[in-house]
Amino acid sequence: MTEKDFILKNIDTTNPEKGSFTWKSPSNIALVKYWGKSEPQIPKNPSISFTLNNCHTITTLEYSKKNTPAKEYSVEVIFEGEVKEDFKPKIIKFFKRVEIYIPFITEFDFVIKTENSFPHSSGIASSASGMSALALCLMSIEKELNPTIAENYFNQKASFLARLGSGSAARSIEGELVVWGEHKNISNSSNLYGVKFPYPIHKNFENYQDTILLVDKGEKQVSSTVGHKLMIDHPFAEQRFIQANENIEKLSKILQNGDLSAFVNLVESEALSLHSMMMTSNPYFILMKPNTLKIIEKIWEYRKKTASDICFTLDAGANVHVLFPKREKEKINSFIKNELIVFCQNNQYICDDAGFGAMKLE
Ligand code: DP6
Repeated sequence: MTEKDFILKNIDTTNPEKGSFTWKSPSNIALVKYWGKSEPQIPKNPSISFTLNNCHTITTLEYSKKNTPAKEYSVEVIFEGEVKEDFKPKIIKFFKRVEIYIPFITEFDFVIKTENSFPHSSGIASSASGMSALALCLMSIEKELNPTIAENYFNQKASFLARLGSGSAARSIEGELVVWGEHKNISNSSNLYGVKFPYPIHKNFENYQDTILLVDKGEKQVSSTVGHKLMIDHPFAEQRFIQANENIEKLSKILQNGDLSAFVNLVESEALSLHSMMMTSNPYFILMKPNTLKIIEKIWEYRKKTASDICFTLDAGANVHVLFPKREKEKINSFIKNELIVFCQNNQYICDDAGFGAMKLE
């Protein structure tokens, strides 16, 4: 598929006059990280993530035909019941990017009503779940205009549009493992949209657990836009992109053969590599907090003591994602409660697990 294949052509938009669609779309946690991109939202390396289950956004998109045709976009954003003017520029930027693929967006007045299952400014990025939910609502309008589109195309284009809103959102349409970015050994992988991990996944990774420890709920120190730019002219960028490609290759094998200790090693190394990139860029950042490190030390200690397959990963922030196989759920939950939540802000954490992707709500 190329960009051209996603351009909607010759559709009669006299119908529908108005309507609304609601989608629930999950967040995701990258195992091999996307960090560095070029225009238009093309990743510098492939990434792979677990789709989450409990961390999600629910978005309703109401649309009605404009009274008088106008080229400007007409959109109102309501976040958790409140009109949000400051959310609009991001949406307008997104609309500009996707207009060529869904030209009908200039023909309607839109109201976007959206809410997250996780607390606002919990440090959990809502761009993946938010942008994928919006992209899916827009695809539902496209399907209304063109009912013949196949499910596969629907999902691919939803991921393609979501990517233009936020790169990681491309990985939030389906589950449980999604690859975004071209890799020579992942069939059908693409820089334009995410694809489900195309090989059989070992049962060790079924319903994998992710408990998110909210270490620092403050505003992000580095926005993703600034973050990705740090990789331009980064002294170690080329090596990092090579490493990520190699890690996709290795992880692909691990996911098939079930080697949990290799998984632990690779996933933690990826998280620390991501943070190393931030520490060695200019400007430089340390996004971990003292409690992030304390949690990491505790996890290592517990692993040594119990031979558990627990590990951690990090986003571009201080929160820690604790990953573990389902069979260890009970034991690790008590370890988390007894030893880790003291390092969380207000003792807050979220239990999540790998899920199967977005859902349309009636
Ligand atoms: C560290 O998808 O938030 O979470 O494309 O600018 O919206 P934009 O960036 P975004 O970047 C996510 C970076 C990351 C790693 C990852 O999810 O792969």
